[in-house]
Amino acid sequence: MNNDKLEEILNRYPPSREHLIAILQEVQEAEGFLSREAIVRIAARLKLATGKIYGVATFYNQFRFQSSGKYHIQLCRGTACHVKGSSAALDCLERELGIHPGETSADGLFSLEVTPCLGACGLAPVMSVNGEIHSCVDEIKIKTILTALRSSAAAGGDEL
Ligand code: FES
Repeated sequence: MNNDKLEEILNRYPPSREHLIAILQEVQEAEGFLSREAIVRIAARLKLATGKIYGVATFYNQFRFQSSGKYHIQLCRGTACHVKGSSAALDCLERELGIHPGETSADGLFSLEVTPCLGACGLAPVMSVNGEIHSCVDEIKIKTILTALRSSAAAGGDEL
């Protein structure tokens, strides 16, 4: 992240721990994730240990510590999707991608995030890839989607 942008965000808040979450949210919005260097600078400004900041940030599912993959997958864990089997979908994604929510695959191709309701409950369980909604996802459908994305990436394409 550009130092000026981080400085601008930090200058908007009094250097107090009570603003930590708001600062982390703004930094992530600007950078897409919380880099190690951003955390170190936030820690210095708020006079907190970096470990404390990681501890707080990891408590919330919304924060990422790695940049997103080429394909950013969001799996809905809202109530309707949960009832329709999003747990099994999450297990499948973790197994197939070899990552957990908040992580990015080593090849940089995929990142995974769990989200609250994506607003498409009638299509549950739902996941999105770079913002494109996929409905009624089960293991077979997820494997088909991932295979198509891998093929697309190998062919140099961007879309499914
Ligand atoms: S609960 Fe998943 S889209 Fe609403």
